[in-house]
Amino acid sequence: MAKQEDDFKRVISHAKEYGYVFQSSEIYDGLSAVYDYGQNGAELKKNIREYWWKAMVQLNDNIVGLDAAIFMHPLTWKASGHIDAFNDPLIDNKDSKKRYRADVLVEDYVAKIDAKIEKEVSKAEKRFGDTFNKETFLATNQRVVDYLQQGKTILSRLGKSLQKEDLADVKALIEELDIACPMSGSKNWTDVKQFNLMFGTKLGANAESAMDLFLRPETAQGIFVNFLNVQKSGRMKIPFGIAQTGKAFRNEIVARQFIFRMREFEQMEMQFFIQPGSQKEWYEVWKEKRMKWHLSLGLGQENYRFHDHEKLAHYADAAADIEFRFPFGFKELEGIHSRTDFDLSSHEKFSGKKLQYFDHEVNKNYVPYVLETSIGLDRMFLAVFSNSLVEEELENNTTRTVLKLPAVLAPIKAAILPLLKKDGLQEVAQSIVDELKYDFNVAYDEKDAVGRRYRRQDANGTPFCITVDHQTLEDQTVTIRHRDSMEQERVAISALNGIIHNAVDMKTWLKKME
Ligand code: GAP
Repeated sequence: MAKQEDDFKRVISHAKEYGYVFQSSEIYDGLSAVYDYGQNGAELKKNIREYWWKAMVQLNDNIVGLDAAIFMHPLTWKASGHIDAFNDPLIDNKDSKKRYRADVLVEDYVAKIDAKIEKEVSKAEKRFGDTFNKETFLATNQRVVDYLQQGKTILSRLGKSLQKEDLADVKALIEELDIACPMSGSKNWTDVKQFNLMFGTKLGANAESAMDLFLRPETAQGIFVNFLNVQKSGRMKIPFGIAQTGKAFRNEIVARQFIFRMREFEQMEMQFFIQPGSQKEWYEVWKEKRMKWHLSLGLGQENYRFHDHEKLAHYADAAADIEFRFPFGFKELEGIHSRTDFDLSSHEKFSGKKLQYFDHEVNKNYVPYVLETSIGLDRMFLAVFSNSLVEEELENNTTRTVLKLPAVLAPIKAAILPLLKKDGLQEVAQSIVDELKYDFNVAYDEKDAVGRRYRRQDANGTPFCITVDHQTLEDQTVTIRHRDSMEQERVAISALNGIIHNAVDMKTWLKKME
């Protein structure tokens, strides 16, 4: 646990030191759970967004994009169910006065059981060596079987209580499990209450005529209310999808995991409109497609898993998360939801406008069903960033900090370094920058010894360092150093564009999804 906390602290401080993420309004001591992205963070975020957008919109001829407003008519949120049902169960500790999400307290308890299982597995792996079979071990080791059953029973009871809105039972569960306040150790809890997560605001100049609005808590509703506009203007035929990225806002009760859970964040969502009855099939298709997108980035298959929801949101008939191994354990990264016709039907009811589709194949009108994929851009950022930050032992008994970002996402693709600040090396280096900058985001760095510059670029996540030396003046070659292997090779200046292109080209990476 202490190691996890240390690793996570290292991620947060590295993000700040290298211009990736800053606390919002830091000079005023910050604003809780709100963050700003620095010079490198803005680039990484843009690249992740683009990687998602290309995979969704450019590679699927039946998916188109949208950019809907954050402000929406207030009835939108009545229709979507957010006014009545977008709540989290909160509980206060009477002694420490700290507030928690009741469900998260229970889930964290189960995460500790999971950690015990992982410990047993790694002990057994060491003991049995090559003959170790994890699946058999999980199914037969009595202690592990009991742990697994215990976790399952707890989550199942939590799911059922939340589904029935039986908040008294959620409190009873916390007490039965003897869960203490993580800050104070006290077990003196209040009752569990529901708390609506939407931020309210007002539209209009004077108080009497001002209209109460909400900052959107998900981007999805902008897609639903534009369903017919896009379908008609784009002559879209079912099945088809509408994708969009944009800010969403939630007044999270507990938001203390850096950019994992923020009050202002960005979503990348896609709603796929389908024939009623085909949702099971599409649910499986999109689970697989989205997992392939994640795996294409090479963060390691073992760091992902599916988690089926016990408690379904008010709009869903099936839902699964893609969970990622964050520094604090496996947690939700993306949701895949079978939303039925809940949203479109409800908007029909509240707006009085038909939101139907005439399907020539079956010769009838219907309200389409919807399959949704929804991922937080900031959460994806944290997944990529935390997974890439490595402390490496080198052969000469030193260590280096290296941010092994997938090259396709790296903010700066190459740094151009004149070996010395004389003899015309700077001018040559600058001319390389001036040529490469039309295709890639590159940096020029002449300060400090070249070894220190390499380390700086390693920590920054830059895949290539290109060094200009005296030989360059004679034969127009440079050394190119690869961030991950630290290998260096001598190449012609004219070959640089091709080498960088091969490593960072989105097409090459996206093709890994096939
Ligand atoms: N339209 C469906 C929807 O919004 P969700 O599971 O509430 O579903 C989808 O959110 C994704 O948005 C999550 O998987 C997560 O990646 C991201 N997300 C949700 N709340 C967040 C928060 N407070 N901070 C950062 N990301 C968040």
